[in-house]
Amino acid sequence: MKTAVYPGSFDPITMGHIDIIKRASVMFDKLVICVMSNAKKTPIFTPDERVELIKRATAGIENIEVTSYGGLLADFAKQQGAGFIVRGLRALSDFEYEFQMALTNRKLYPDADTVFLTTSAEYMYLSSSIVKEIIRNGGFVKDAIPEPIAEDVIKKIRP
Ligand code: PNS
Repeated sequence: MKTAVYPGSFDPITMGHIDIIKRASVMFDKLVICVMSNAKKTPIFTPDERVELIKRATAGIENIEVTSYGGLLADFAKQQGAGFIVRGLRALSDFEYEFQMALTNRKLYPDADTVFLTTSAEYMYLSSSIVKEIIRNGGFVKDAIPEPIAEDVIKKIRP
């Protein structure tokens, strides 16, 4: 069975993430989406809130699981018996960090390879940080956040 882990901050999940999830879910037997912590970011949603938002946003997509983990990605991948780690690439600016992370994870857990999916062109501009920034300042970009969670995300960011 081919199991892949798709890790991220998902603070909150965007349509860019959904695009990667849909495309990765048909490549593997099981795709485990894992909310993790990024030392460089201060999230506004708790891990449980992010898991719940992802579950609602991905309802109907087959062969996925959603969870959170507080430790190393390499340990989580090992625990899941995953042979693959999925990451989305938007632009060249993502590459250096992603390359370093892939090499580190393979050093820590050689049984998993990182697979990069290039983002679909329509989502190249999109990131959770941009979405939060726009909402915080009174704006809203249609098609940036999955429709079933949009209202709750906006309420949390701009109460
Ligand atoms: O969505 P993000 O913020 O780009 O995801 C980055 C994330 C959370 C996948 C990364 O920071 C991570 O793997 N965190 C878990 C801790 C870990 O394993 N760190 C070492 C990575 S080399």
